[in-house]
Amino acid sequence: MVERTLSIIKPDCVAAKNSGKVISMLEKNGFDIVAMKKVWLTKQQAEKFYIVHKERPFYDSLTTFMSEGPIIVMVLEKENAIEDYRKLMGATNPQEASDGTIRKLFGSNIERNAVHGSDSKESADYEINFFFNELEIVKGE
Ligand code: CMP
Repeated sequence: MVERTLSIIKPDCVAAKNSGKVISMLEKNGFDIVAMKKVWLTKQQAEKFYIVHKERPFYDSLTTFMSEGPIIVMVLEKENAIEDYRKLMGATNPQEASDGTIRKLFGSNIERNAVHGSDSKESADYEINFFFNELEIVKGE
């Protein structure tokens, strides 16, 4: 089934000038980028985006990190996009990620892990709607 997922190139990866390499990996792996923009979240916006992690001990640090600089947000489309993108990202902790994955290549630690991807259909819907409206998403590629 053709699915959509939300991808974020995080502030660490944008600042390190690795965005182009990540985008190239997405294209080589068959993802269509149907929407894309660069944004700089406020701390409050990052808190809203990561609201499911509100009770976690890393919530404050994570949302400070995610608002420290610009990010690149994309809607990716592909058969089985959610699971396939999670495989391409690799484990949350770059030290545990497989060779050749985005986080292994570009992540530094469990927080500064280069990229984000939706973990389910429900979170993909929430996350895509958080950043994009229907007019901003290209149809019929
Ligand atoms: P992400 O896929 O964006 O989803 C939640 C983020 O929280 C995760 O990537 C990491 O950046 C961060 N995170 C997850 N677990 C931890 C942890 N144990 N300590 C610090 N940050 C974490």
